[in-house]
Amino acid sequence: MHQAITLEALDFLLSERGAAILSALKPDDLRDQALLSALTRLRRTCSPQEAAAAVTLARLRLRAERKFTRAAKMFFTDEALQQASGEAISRYRARRYAAFDRIADLGCGVGGDTIGLAAAGHEVIAVDRDLLRSRLARANARVLGLDDRVRVVCADLRQQPWGTSAAFVDPSRRVGGRRVFSIYEMEPSLPDILTLRDRMPHMGVKVHPGVDDLGLPSGCEVEFISEGGTCKEAVLWFGDLSTGVPRRATLLPGGHTLAWEPVEPVPVGPPGAYLYEPDPAIIRAHVVEHLAWQIGAHKLDEEIAYLTGDRAVQTPFARCYPVWEALPFNLKELNRRLRTLGVGSVIVKKRGSAVDPEAFRRRLKTVPGGRTAVVVLTRAAGRPIMLICGEAL
Ligand SMILES: C[S@@+](CC[C@H](N)C(=O)[O-])C[C@H]1O[C@@H](n2cnc3c(N)ncnc32)[C@H](O)[C@@H]1O
Repeated sequence: MHQAITLEALDFLLSERGAAILSALKPDDLRDQALLSALTRLRRTCSPQEAAAAVTLARLRLRAERKFTRAAKMFFTDEALQQASGEAISRYRARRYAAFDRIADLGCGVGGDTIGLAAAGHEVIAVDRDLLRSRLARANARVLGLDDRVRVVCADLRQQPWGTSAAFVDPSRRVGGRRVFSIYEMEPSLPDILTLRDRMPHMGVKVHPGVDDLGLPSGCEVEFISEGGTCKEAVLWFGDLSTGVPRRATLLPGGHTLAWEPVEPVPVGPPGAYLYEPDPAIIRAHVVEHLAWQIGAHKLDEEIAYLTGDRAVQTPFARCYPVWEALPFNLKELNRRLRTLGVGSVIVKKRGSAVDPEAFRRRLKTVPGGRTAVVVLTRAAGRPIMLICGEAL
């Protein structure tokens, strides 16, 4: 039913009859097992296309609750929902635009970022070349009571001018049905987007968090944003939107942020009583050493992004595990130690080790009903080691 939300279907869903049918659908109707009977029931009063559209949208709204607090009112297609920025991230980014009254949201999709910017009180020109998406964005702004601040335009975003010097650009990273990671393959490509800076010097551009550092333009700030421990995106900030640092990691929902600045190299030393696993945004932003200085930890290995120390320091930037034992890598010895320590279940983590964690875990011998351990396979000063740790503090 993925093609169920078409322009015609959207007209129906936005009509009074569509709204009544949507509100009559109960969460129970949307379970896989109940779908067929829900569709059959709807077909007494709707066409097959209308019934499919209503059920599809109702299911998308449930899925969208992970991104939007008012998802139950909103309009989506499957792919546009996948690409939409969630509320926490878009609201966080909107704070950078505090100095601008009017912002162009270029490549607005269903309006995830438009909503974040408008909810923060900005006037937004939302642009998407896809007619269906631009209509979805308009509908979403209206149902959320933001339409007095939002003007949606269906056009190519490269057409200028948009009547503002500040923009947020979220290019497509799904092109011809496949995901693209390169700044040259996204649509529009980064070089195309950068030409817009003549008129809009204050710009934020969302790119893939795994973006190749070498291809990034100089002179912008690159912010890696993670949410709930997953690095979701990188944003290139230009003009007055940059805070003047080259890189930064920001962790949501807390909004804790760590900026890159010149620091002394961090010493390498043996495993201490605690192991720190930095958030992926910290690693991507190359601020592991900054974190090490902040929490008084050292590195286990020059090349590896684990930190260690003898004090447990509370930090939002890393998970901290108590180290029970640190040993040279040896499976037989590990199994012996796990039994002695009464370990019943193991979480395997690795960095700088070629081992497949899942296959490795299956070879571990544990004690039924025993406690949980975290086994970390890594290197210390170039040598393979294993750390048997307790669960994160
Ligand atoms: C990743 S989605 C944007 C998601 C959006 N920020 C949100 O939160 O819902 C990218 C959007 O850019 C649009 N797009 C791609 N190239 C474009 C162009 N040249 N002009 C206008 N829109 C474009 C696509 O149609 C797509 O909706």
